[in-house]
Formats: sequence, C-alpha cells, structure tokens
Amino acid sequence: MSGRQVETICCLGAGYVGGPTMAMIAAKCPHLQVTVADLNIQRIAAWNSAILPIYEPGLDPVVAGVRGRNLHFTTDIHGAIAAADLIFVSVGTPTKSYGIGTGRAADLRYIEAAARVIAEVSEGHKIIVEKSTIPVRTAGAVRTILEANTTSNATFEVLSNPEFLAEGTAIQDLESPDRILIGGGNTAAGKAAVEALVAVYANWVPRERILTTNLWSSELSKLVANAFLAQRISSINSISALCEKTGADVDEVAHAIGMDSRIGPRFLKSSIGFGGSCFQKDLLNLVYLCESFGLPEVAKYWNQVLRINDWQKSRFVGKIVRAMFNTINGKRIGILGFAFKKDTNDTRESPAIRVCRDLLHERAHLAIYDPQVDPNIIYQELLGDGVAPTILESNMEICSDPYAAANKSHALVALTEWDEFQTLDMGRIYELMLKPAFVFDGRDILPAEDLKGHGFEVFTIGKG
Ligand code: NAD
Ligand code: UGA
Repeated sequence: MSGRQVETICCLGAGYVGGPTMAMIAAKCPHLQVTVADLNIQRIAAWNSAILPIYEPGLDPVVAGVRGRNLHFTTDIHGAIAAADLIFVSVGTPTKSYGIGTGRAADLRYIEAAARVIAEVSEGHKIIVEKSTIPVRTAGAVRTILEANTTSNATFEVLSNPEFLAEGTAIQDLESPDRILIGGGNTAAGKAAVEALVAVYANWVPRERILTTNLWSSELSKLVANAFLAQRISSINSISALCEKTGADVDEVAHAIGMDSRIGPRFLKSSIGFGGSCFQKDLLNLVYLCESFGLPEVAKYWNQVLRINDWQKSRFVGKIVRAMFNTINGKRIGILGFAFKKDTNDTRESPAIRVCRDLLHERAHLAIYDPQVDPNIIYQELLGDGVAPTILESNMEICSDPYAAANKSHALVALTEWDEFQTLDMGRIYELMLKPAFVFDGRDILPAEDLKGHGFEVFTIGKG
C-alpha cells in the first residue's frame, strides 16, 4: 500500500460474487493486482480454464481480457492474503442447518474461518472488506477475531461493502451499479480505509453513486434491499391469486400500478415464486435478527413474504393436478427450465425444485429441459425431501431440447423464463404431445393466445 492507495487486492471466495466482481475491478483498474483465492480446487481450475465455473452473459470476455495480466485465480490463500493491501471476504453465508437458529440464522462459520486465516497470515496494515451478506453487527465480531488472533503487529480496519448484483445481469450491474455502498468506522483510520475503497470504485463509478455510511447501516441495508425486492414479488404473487378468481389480469394490474412513480414498474412480474441463493436466506436472516432483538411483530411481518412464496409454488402444483383430472400418476410432463431465473446456470433455491418434487410425489414422469443447467445438478437438487434415487431413476429424465421434453407428454410446464421458449414452434409441439395437450406457464413466457389457437389447454399465473 503506497500512502493511502491500494495496490494489491485479494478476494476470499471465487463464487458467483467473488469471480465476476473481481474481474470487473481488474478490468476497470489496470494499475491494481487482483487475486481471487478459494479452497475449492476444481472451482479455481475452472476459473483458469476456457470454461468458467459460472454461466453469466458477458463474463467470458471480461475475464479473458484481464486474466494473467492483473487478475489471478489461486488456491494459495495464505500467499494471496500476505500480498494484499485490501481483502474482500466473499465466502458463502448460508442458512444455518444445525443448532441454535437452525433453518433461519446465517451460518457464519466461513466468515469466521476467513477472519482467522487473515489474522494468522497478515503483517502490516490490512483493510478487510465484508462483501458477503451478513447479519448486522458482524463487522464487530470480525474485528474481535482479527485482533485476538494476530501473531504479528498487524493492524486491521473492517469495512462493509455489500454486493447488489443480480445473476444473469451481473456484468451490467457491476459496470453501471445503481450505487456502491461502503460502511466504515468513524475513526481517522476508519475514514482513511473508506476513502481507499472509494478510490478503487471511483475508477469507473461516478462519485455521487458511491455512498458511505456507518458500518451497521451498510450491513443492514443489504438485508433490507433484498427483503423489499422479495416483498414486491410476494405482493404481486398474492394478487395473482385474486386475479385468477376475478378475471383481472395480473400483468395489466402490475402495469397500471407500476406507472405510479411512487410504486415504479420493476420487480412486479408475477411468477411461480422467487428463488435464488439469497432472497429466502436473507429474509430468514432478517426474521431471525428481529426475533433476537425482541421484535416479534416485525419478524412476523417479513416472515409472511416467505409464506406467500411457498404458497405460490404449491398453488401452482395444485392447479396442474386439478386441471389434469385430479391425477398425474404415470403421466409424462415436460418441464421447460430448471434454473432459478434465465441467463444463469444457478439452481440454488430454484422454485423448479419444489414444483418438480411435488409433481414427483404425485407420481408424474418428468422430462426436464434447461439450456444451461448440468443434468447432474438437476439430479442432486431433486434428491431428498421424500424423493429417493429410485424415484429419479424411474420417473425423471433429462432432455437435450424442448421438443424431446414435449414428445408424448400430457403437459408442458414452464418454470424458467429463458428467451428461447418465446420462439418455440408450438404447432410442432402440439403435434408431439398427447391430447388434451396442457400448458402450465409459471413464467408467462409462452405465447398464450397462439397456444390456444393450436388447441392447447392453457393456464398462466394471474390470468383469469
Ligand atoms: P458461492 O457459494 O458461489 O461462493 C463462495 C465461495 O467461497 C465458495 O467457492 C467457497 O469454496 C469459498 N470459500 C469458503 N470459505 C473460504 C475461505 N476461508 N477462503 C477462501 N474461499 C472460501 O457464494 P456466492 O453466491 O458468491 O455468495 C457469496 C456471498 O455473497 C454470500 O454471502 C451471498 O449472500 C452474497 N451475495 C450473493 C449474490 C449472488 O448473486 N449470488 C449477490 C449478492 C450477494
Ligand atoms: C437478487 C437481487 O436482485 C440482487 O440485488 C442481490 O444482490 C441478490 O439477490 C443477492 O443478494 O444475491 P438474484 O437473486 O440474482 O438477485 O436475482 P433476481 O433478479 O433478484 O431474481 C430473484 C428471483 O425472483 C428469481 O427467481 C426471479 O425469477 C424472481 N422474480 C424477480 C420474480 O418472480 N418476479 C420479478 O418481478 C423479479
């Protein structure tokens, strides 16, 4: 570190956030050396290969432009920490699956392990940046662990810099973020650390979009942003059910309310429910925090967002079973899409998992097609919760195209809004399917009017 300027950056965690974020920093800051370090040998090997470990539009050229120049991927965690002025911690913070707070609290073991290894290896002054999404006040715990475990004269300043990118649009979100949020301490050292990180982002983000706050506001804002986004989806999904009862059209309602500038048009697309690695876990985390701080009414309010999300998925399966004469036992059902949204190969908490498992519980035979998700991942995601390997072996197959999924199927169920589903030859699909040919569109992605013209029985969420 020369004066207050950062020269070398390291990031612990080469996942969906660490990889793309560091690639963007390296691309925008050619004067900085950026190293991404991970324990996972296969993941690092993939980042160093021609086929990156995550599918994200626009990511490949960014990585190709900087890898080996000022962006490096390594498993040498100690070496990367030792060389860095500033260390991003971008490890997973999943929901705890054991002990106190099980199923709700954030599991901070990876954060703590990262802090301990940083303390062990560091010398001199280091800026530690929480990039992972964590419960409010985690920076205090990180600082305590660092200071209690350093064996040298190392000094640390801990900052919060949550990430707001969405998968599928990560590159544009990183290139032109709505805001960069940096929380830091109020001491002279704290302010200097904040300025050093501001200077990194200022290489491409306009200064007025770089927001600095105290540590706790920054940590909490990340959870609250995800909670508000998820709440909009549950709100419109709750209204989709009322639309189906009344003949109103949920898209028309969303459009009408979204034109009110106080409401705004985005994140009002009704669906089978939100998925992804973060909304559910961050809401659970927020609910748990509220309970821990003695605020049960606030906890209940946010928990309802999750309950509507679960209800929406089971409601969708209920529609399928009822429409198909109350039995799907032995019926072949083509599934279009398994990722939690388009333009990603990520399946974490995908609503498709719950829908497919429930269809398997009804003893349907699933023919699944997704353009990006690895078949082994689909298999692993469906296993469990009453779905045994024998069920998957007899009642689930992976198809290499949508037409194969539709072939001799009783129904076609769209679960991810991949663009390619908009241009399917629905006439050909109708010919391939058994009759009556049902379509259940959980994403409003298939051409509904066109479908009816071909003779399909169509159900779309929120359309009476
Ligand atoms: P991920 O699971 O894809 O990646 C985390 C990586 O950290 C893994 O590869 C793991 O091997 C590695 N790791 C764990 N401990 C380590 C250690 N001590 N040293 C080095 N590497 C270690 O997770 P992700 O999706 O990138 O999410 C990371 C964090 O960012 C989470 O807190 C998440 O909530 C948050 N976040 C995610 C997104 C998203 O779109 N996925 C967006 C914003 C924020
Ligand atoms: C979300 C947030 O949008 C990011 O800002 C945040 O950084 C990230 O979580 C995180 O913390 O991990 P992501 O989960 O990648 O990003 O994707 P979104 O675009 O938010 O979609 C989440 C889910 O909601 C998807 O299943 C999507 O299909 C669904 N969705 C989204 C709807 O059903 N309707 C909508 O109108 C929008």
